[in-house]
Amino acid sequence: MAFASFKEILIDGLKNGYAVGQFNVNNLEFLQAIIETAEEERSPVILGVSEGAMKYMNIEYTAAMAKTAAEKATVPVILHLDHGSSFEVVLKCIRAGFSSIMIDASHYPLEENIAKTKQVVDACHVLGIDVEGELGRIGGTEDDISVDERDATLARPDEAVRLVKEAGIDALAPAIGSAHGLYKGVPVLAFDRLQEIRDLTGVPLVLHGGSGIPDEDIRKAISLGVSKINVNTENQVSFTKKIREILNNDQKVYDPRKYLGPAREAIKETVREKIRLFGSNNRA
Ligand code: 13P
Repeated sequence: MAFASFKEILIDGLKNGYAVGQFNVNNLEFLQAIIETAEEERSPVILGVSEGAMKYMNIEYTAAMAKTAAEKATVPVILHLDHGSSFEVVLKCIRAGFSSIMIDASHYPLEENIAKTKQVVDACHVLGIDVEGELGRIGGTEDDISVDERDATLARPDEAVRLVKEAGIDALAPAIGSAHGLYKGVPVLAFDRLQEIRDLTGVPLVLHGGSGIPDEDIRKAISLGVSKINVNTENQVSFTKKIREILNNDQKVYDPRKYLGPAREAIKETVREKIRLFGSNNRA
């Protein structure tokens, strides 16, 4: 199949109370694990590619691998730029064949975030490409900060309304207390904010930093309007743990397939758990 529609899938999730996983791709094994599991679970799936991963894999290789995967797949597949930092990067991704875009101008003041996001939306919408924007600060682990400081990093509902309406985005990633990478403690999500933003904007919401969040909180976030959840770290941990185990147990192994193969299987089990938790299984 050709790449699927980002907006249609997120809206279906919103209507039917499930979220689609964005699983980040770091190499071929990640891509294969994600697609195979989505097929086995009959789930739509979003392949997320960050600028760092793109630099590592090469943009053309990345797009070609994802395109082949989508063409062979019997479930909807989306190739999504994760945290695009500029209009230039967005254009490069569109040219390479990405099917949806995230522009992250959240570290700029609101007016600039709106202007930069709108520039991307205007170009993408002409081409039928959907856009995710971000508001607030979704940082690294932020366990040591005070309540006031934490509050300042969260997305503000009034600003969310402006970003959605004025920039015309198709999905919004509001900072609600989650973070990328490994958490030191248990993350505390601001569900009241999430609910307010959902009620005021009506657009599908995206939860970044989806690794390490308790299952109950994930279910609650979905019930409050989250229809896309990003996961990278937990897959990286599963992959690396398996490789470490194999290399530690066998000093003689040198064929990469002997450890990358099992590591790919390890990612599959993590992706499967997430797909089932997000409720996107049997939705394809
Ligand atoms: P994790 O680091 O929690 O897996 O989050 C990934 C992410 O949000 C990518 O945008």
